[in-house]
Amino acid sequence: MPSLTLDTVPGDLFYFSPPADGSEPYNRVNTDPNSTLPLSNWTPEKHTVQIENVRGREAFYTLDEAGFQYFKHPAGHTAFIDEDQIKAEYYLESADLIKEITGASRVVLFDHTIRRRIPGQVDMVGKRQPVKEVHVDQTTSSAISRVHLHLPPSEAPELLKHRFQIINLWRPISHPAFDMPLTLCDYRTVDTENDLVAVARIAPERRGQTYRVKYNPQHQWKYLKGMTPEEFVLIKCFDSTEEKGVSIYTPHTAFPDPSAPDDTLPRESIELRALVFYD
Ligand code: OGA
Ligand code: FE
Repeated sequence: MPSLTLDTVPGDLFYFSPPADGSEPYNRVNTDPNSTLPLSNWTPEKHTVQIENVRGREAFYTLDEAGFQYFKHPAGHTAFIDEDQIKAEYYLESADLIKEITGASRVVLFDHTIRRRIPGQVDMVGKRQPVKEVHVDQTTSSAISRVHLHLPPSEAPELLKHRFQIINLWRPISHPAFDMPLTLCDYRTVDTENDLVAVARIAPERRGQTYRVKYNPQHQWKYLKGMTPEEFVLIKCFDSTEEKGVSIYTPHTAFPDPSAPDDTLPRESIELRALVFYD
């Protein structure tokens, strides 16, 4: 008889709880190695949740419903060492992929982060580590700011009159990402009115905003175990649509997978961030 039990693992996730002194919550990123400033002023709240490995059932999760979607498509660029080459080669092929998948009229890649896990290393500029807190990369207001930041002033107002999205393309580098995989929360289980908290994102270059997420037992968490460099996931971080039932914010985080093989290599990955416009 086929087994009816889902393939799940327990995962320790870190949700948001507000600063005890009532101050505005912040996170600092891209910090200088000599910086002694605190990385944040709020307390992560650990919750152990069941996380389902959706391998073999990927088709049930689509960008506009679940807020994420898995694809298999090897990258032409595979080195991920030279920043200029990444921008020239990987940005170009990835923008084409996103355009093809979404049917967008224009895709503008504005940022990328390479993460190579080093055990014991704190997250800092040049040594970005897997993210240990449940979050969404942009708030509504920082998504709109991104359009003004990355598009010419002559174009931004017109683009903002139409549907636009922020989508991340996340892909393992070099070997399968068994170690500290990325888990995504099904948008259909997110209470957008109550679960999301805007947190200041303080980077040396600018101040922005992300969402951190309050624990909600309704949340359903998914991952694709042993994602390979030939696979990628699109993550919807924002959508200006007002259509009911369409995903807008997709919470995500890395987590230590207790079922990862003992001899697995530390995770390496790249995420691209794209502004995605429609006519
Ligand atoms: C992202 C992200 C975290 C990680 O792609 O937006 O949050 O650990 N990644 O890769
Ligand atoms: Fe993120």
